[in-house]
Amino acid sequence: MKYMMDGGNLEEIKYCNEFFPLDGVTTNPTLLSKEKTDFLQRIRDIRDIIGPDKMIHVQTVQKKAEDIVEEAKFLKKEMGANFFIKIPICEEGLKATKILKSMNIDVTMTAIFTPPQALIAAMAGAKWVAPYVNRLDNIVGEGTRVVAEIVEQFKMYNLDCKVLAASFKSVEQVHKCALAGCDAITVSADIFKAIISHSMTDATIQGFDADWHGQYGDRTFLG
Ligand code: G3P
Repeated sequence: MKYMMDGGNLEEIKYCNEFFPLDGVTTNPTLLSKEKTDFLQRIRDIRDIIGPDKMIHVQTVQKKAEDIVEEAKFLKKEMGANFFIKIPICEEGLKATKILKSMNIDVTMTAIFTPPQALIAAMAGAKWVAPYVNRLDNIVGEGTRVVAEIVEQFKMYNLDCKVLAASFKSVEQVHKCALAGCDAITVSADIFKAIISHSMTDATIQGFDADWHGQYGDRTFLG
């Protein structure tokens, strides 16, 4: 499982990069616009924080295939290796994906809501597809079942395309995606925190501390 952070806030990205096994950052126009800052500088800053070896997925804001390709080329130059251009699935997006594949620029096809959308994105040459779990759950669309079916399809056809599940509001959704064999999830800093939080863990750690201090005070193995 790869863990990505979905967002554009530098403090949150620094925090996730420091404390969690972070494989990269995903953004989209909504997340970047929330930051109310220079979007180009912001993605450069994100790259600086995570370094050149982690993935960065940046979404195009173009609509026509040729313009998407130009934007992808520009962003690839800016971001270097481990860059993925996110393209929402649509006819122009699929056309751009085919062109970008021939140019070796990796595509993450996003705003995926059904397994047939994911399959056709993979066949067009996308490296990742991003199904939106919570948005599906909100319309009784069983987001994690959709993720499981996409994983199954890719295995069945032995496709070179991975599943990057997005749009999470609970640890339960993350867990079900993991059980489905999803390749990666992208979540907010709050979901990262929620994944490791448990009241039993807190109580257990308190017990260890109390027992140690009762016997040894402030001493540690270091002295
Ligand atoms: O990466 C897609 C994600 O940002 C959508 O999440 O919470 O707006 O459904 P959400």
